[in-house]
Amino acid sequence: MASNVSVVLGTQWGDEGKGKIVDLLAAKSDYVVRFHGGNNAGHTIVVNGKKYPLHLIPSGVLNPAAICVIANGVVVDLEVLTSEINMFLADGVKLTKRLFISDRCHLILPYHKALDIIFEKARGKNKLGTTARGIGPAYADKVSYNGIRIYELEDWELFKEKFKFQAKIKNEILKTFKVEPINVSKELKNLAKLREIILPYVTDTYQLLQKAVNQNQKILMEGAQAIMLDVDFSPYPFTTASNTIPGAINTGSGIQIQKVGDICGVVKAYTSRVGGGPFVTELTDKLGDEIREKGAEFGTTTGRPRRVGWLDLEAVKFACEISGATEAAITKIDILSGLKKIKVCIDYKLNGRPISYSSCGYEELAKLTPIYKEFAGWEEDITKIKKFKDLPKNCQTYIQFISDFLNVPVKIVSTGPAREEYIKL
Ligand code: GDP
Ligand code: IMO
Ligand code: MG
Repeated sequence: MASNVSVVLGTQWGDEGKGKIVDLLAAKSDYVVRFHGGNNAGHTIVVNGKKYPLHLIPSGVLNPAAICVIANGVVVDLEVLTSEINMFLADGVKLTKRLFISDRCHLILPYHKALDIIFEKARGKNKLGTTARGIGPAYADKVSYNGIRIYELEDWELFKEKFKFQAKIKNEILKTFKVEPINVSKELKNLAKLREIILPYVTDTYQLLQKAVNQNQKILMEGAQAIMLDVDFSPYPFTTASNTIPGAINTGSGIQIQKVGDICGVVKAYTSRVGGGPFVTELTDKLGDEIREKGAEFGTTTGRPRRVGWLDLEAVKFACEISGATEAAITKIDILSGLKKIKVCIDYKLNGRPISYSSCGYEELAKLTPIYKEFAGWEEDITKIKKFKDLPKNCQTYIQFISDFLNVPVKIVSTGPAREEYIKL
């Protein structure tokens, strides 16, 4: 029997255009599910000329028939979630009985954000460039038994006790770094308000999703960040705090791994990276600036300028291998229009010898020489093209090469930010 659970994942360093692809595929989905990460994600969807930057609510939200689930693997900042809920309610989007948040989700609390910032400051020139959203400290609390789950908001007296205990410990750390401690009573007042808004959406999403799986409902899992930021399989510590590979579907939602069928790897036609860490194909010259401007490569979450470079197929090949990608969606190919030459990294060399992405630590990655294949570019604006055969020949050659190199069929080519700007293959 064909599987009804599919997943969209980033194959690079994030911001590949996952939100856009999820919004597209959500039109045929009964459920869209976030299963890891938090509001470090910034997924943009553009519908009817309006741009929505989403951090926690799944990118299927503007498909009225799709139920949106924030499953247990996600760390939740109540403030961010509340403002997203309010944004959609103000737009007349119905969320009651459509948005469900797992009672098991761990909370990102004010002290997590403060700790994220001071840890980065303490690292000085070795800072990681986190999104400063408290993601690492919240996951650290989860696995060190210091976390507080969302369902604990139900018993307010008990919650207050737990919050006060944790804040006391964290304030000691903040004081050591000469940072203003958390104002416990002020924060609790704010949390009390947020709790009223969020609790009606909180439920046991494990049961909800098991039922959906058993009824053969179509479930789309929305990956955040990207394979190259996986906490285990990318060059630590330049990672995010969660696992981003498909294994996280099981731990982050309870959906059994053998239920997962299509695995769609989103590949941006070039590379961007925000934050620190090695970047083999980075363009630090004028061309890099041009691609950044044209591609509007500024963080959806932090507004930071993204580092940009050529497509690194050696790394993407590893991403497809480890994730078991069964198909690819190529995005932002329109941004390459007008370039005379386009380069793609097809191999790495370390001290003159070939080496694979997966065998490199970050120290090695920083020393690699990329081996490029060069392609002739195209001039035409391709944004409105609807058929692959109507794309400029050089653009077709570029896409075909990516597909052949990765040994993964390309199913979608995205040619612009708007929902309707894509080619189906
Ligand atoms: P995500 O984190 O993977 O969902 O990606 P982001 O939303 O952070 O960044 C992708 C940016 O590119 C957003 O501003 C999208 O609106 C935009 N985008 C997505 N697909 C395309 C495309 O094919 N062409 C262009 N020009 N922009 C795109
Ligand atoms: P989406 O889902 C791009 C990066 C940060 C930093 C590292 C660790 O929009 O693709 P964190 O705040 O997670 O502790 O930061 O991970 N990072 C992202 N980069 N897109 C994202 O999400 C990211 N989420 C985290 O910049 O380098
Ligand atoms: Mg993003």
